[in-house]
Amino acid sequence: MAQVVIVTGGAGGIGSAICRALAQVKRRVVIADCNEEGAAELAGNISKEGGDALALKVDVGDKASVNEMTGKVFKRYGQIDVLINGAGVRTIVPVLDMPEEQWDWVIRINLKGVFLCSQAVAAHMVARKEGRIINIASGRGVAGQPKCSHYAASKAGVIAFTKSLALELASNNILVNAIAPGRADTAMARAGATEERWKEIQAIPPLMGGLTRKDEITGLIRYLLSDSTRYITGQLFLLRTP
Ligand SMILES: NC(=O)c1ccc[n+]([C@@H]2O[C@H](COP(=O)([O-])OP(=O)(O)OC[C@H]3O[C@@H](n4cnc5c(N)ncnc54)[C@H](O)[C@@H]3O)[C@@H](O)[C@H]2O)c1
Repeated sequence: MAQVVIVTGGAGGIGSAICRALAQVKRRVVIADCNEEGAAELAGNISKEGGDALALKVDVGDKASVNEMTGKVFKRYGQIDVLINGAGVRTIVPVLDMPEEQWDWVIRINLKGVFLCSQAVAAHMVARKEGRIINIASGRGVAGQPKCSHYAASKAGVIAFTKSLALELASNNILVNAIAPGRADTAMARAGATEERWKEIQAIPPLMGGLTRKDEITGLIRYLLSDSTRYITGQLFLLRTP
């Protein structure tokens, strides 16, 4: 049977590119997102293009919601081969003005969400002695980011969690890696810049730290899901120098 891949945040800018790229190489893609409409629309488009996609609503920060989503995947396919943790949020606010609720919100979705989704699929992967988990981190988790301390801290947490989980699950033949894209052209990134600044950003050549193209991310994901990388685990792949 074709591999079953859950992509959280699958309806978003990076997530939808991942879903499309994996559907093109005949993976069964589960678009798991809190944006139910966006996920359903993408699933419809992937199906029209000849792919296999299932849209499921989930709040990755809520254990019951995550278990309900993974339960539906098992019911439909009977297995989960790959989890890609892509759901994420960000706001722009200096530490001194940061409301506690905003800090909690970002950590809950970006960090706890990765833990809950990984935990939900890992038991099944351990039983099968096979599985791969890829977490979408950020260069900000390495370098920090002014006015985005909660976001940077959440991504640093994702990187440490990735390495820890990889060590825990290695004996079960489960690979856990993280990808840190540079700034990519999505709603999240555009929300953090004025139109003028965005034009400047677009003009920076990629080798000078400019935008990460989505096919850099999807190409790396395909590679990390290939047979060539079956002994690569616990690694952080930085796509731009942060
Ligand atoms: N765009 C960038 O420049 C960039 C750079 C580095 C890392 N990232 C990371 O890549 C990932 C995707 O970001 P993007 O730029 O595509 O953003 P995006 O806003 O386009 O997509 C994020 C997706 O996550 C979903 N989501 C939010 N909260 C959720 C929840 N509680 N449960 C389930 N889904 C939820 C949203 O509905 C959305 O579809 C994020 O983890 C982000 O931190 C983005």
